[in-house]
Amino acid sequence: MRRASKIVNNKKIGVIGTGAMGSALIRGFLDSGLVEPCDVTASDLNINALQKLREQFSVNTTVNNLETVRKSEIVILAVKPGQVKAVLEEIAPAITADHLLISVAAGIKISFFEENLPAGTPVIRAMPNVPSLIGEGMSALVMGSSTVESHQKAAEALFAAVGRVIIVSEKEIDAVTAVSGCGPAYLAIVLEALADGGVKMGLSRQLALELAAQTMIGTGRMILNGEHPAVLKDRVCSPGGSTISGVHVLEKGGLRGVLLSAVEAAAKRSGELQ
Ligand SMILES: NC(=O)c1ccc[n+]([C@@H]2O[C@H](COP(=O)([O-])OP(=O)(O)OC[C@H]3O[C@@H](n4cnc5c(N)ncnc54)[C@H](OP(=O)(O)O)[C@@H]3O)[C@@H](O)[C@H]2O)c1
Repeated sequence: MRRASKIVNNKKIGVIGTGAMGSALIRGFLDSGLVEPCDVTASDLNINALQKLREQFSVNTTVNNLETVRKSEIVILAVKPGQVKAVLEEIAPAITADHLLISVAAGIKISFFEENLPAGTPVIRAMPNVPSLIGEGMSALVMGSSTVESHQKAAEALFAAVGRVIIVSEKEIDAVTAVSGCGPAYLAIVLEALADGGVKMGLSRQLALELAAQTMIGTGRMILNGEHPAVLKDRVCSPGGSTISGVHVLEKGGLRGVLLSAVEAAAKRSGELQ
């Protein structure tokens, strides 16, 4: 269990939308000891989802988003992007400058929230990714114009419960989306292809996937620990050995250029969707 952060301790947390991301965040907050179940209120249109959440985590649940806002100091908006406008219209009358609203909705800019909520509402835009669902996420946070340091610290502590956290400016968010938001899909393709290679060379599918997945995790951890990717690659490539023979094939196939173009295309598309 990670150490609880004083900045979030005893704060009342509301979560509107308890689907994949909303429930993953609640699980992370509780597992990390950041908040107690009695301090969490969650609302959703889906009564079955709420019942499951109550049974699993003993948090307060309601179908009334206004009740969630009134009972909370930090409100996390985790509905689909297309549902955001309707929810903002509904909750705006209950939002005050003492609330902090954190949105995880992909593609919805800070200005949209600030225009649709009372003046001075502190807003933070978060861009988590799929591995947040298992506590291995990468979240980028963008601060709104009315946020202060305590808001940033609280949001950092909350998202640290589901992985790593960085602070970015909103102009960086399309590139962030293209790398860490879309990245799990790209890496899943690379991983699957690596395993396909193992199958081609006679390994069982299960074994090849395990080898490829753990190799990806271990490589990522070494790089997060400070190893430069080029140094790591050089270290594995012994002169005249098997790795450099494989690297030659990857370079001839243009793997680097393909991944660069994929990130460029995704960032461009992300900008068009906003
Ligand atoms: N999943 C991810 O890995 C991920 C990553 C990054 C960002 N996000 C962002 O997280 C947000 C949620 O995504 P998700 O994958 O968790 O979606 P989801 O599983 O569909 O969850 C959204 C939940 O919100 C509920 N809802 C809809 N309208 C509502 C309303 N007016 N009031 C209260 N609840 C309402 C939905 O109920 P119904 O099903 O009945 O409509 C659903 O249970 C999205 O904006 C997405 O961009 C998700």
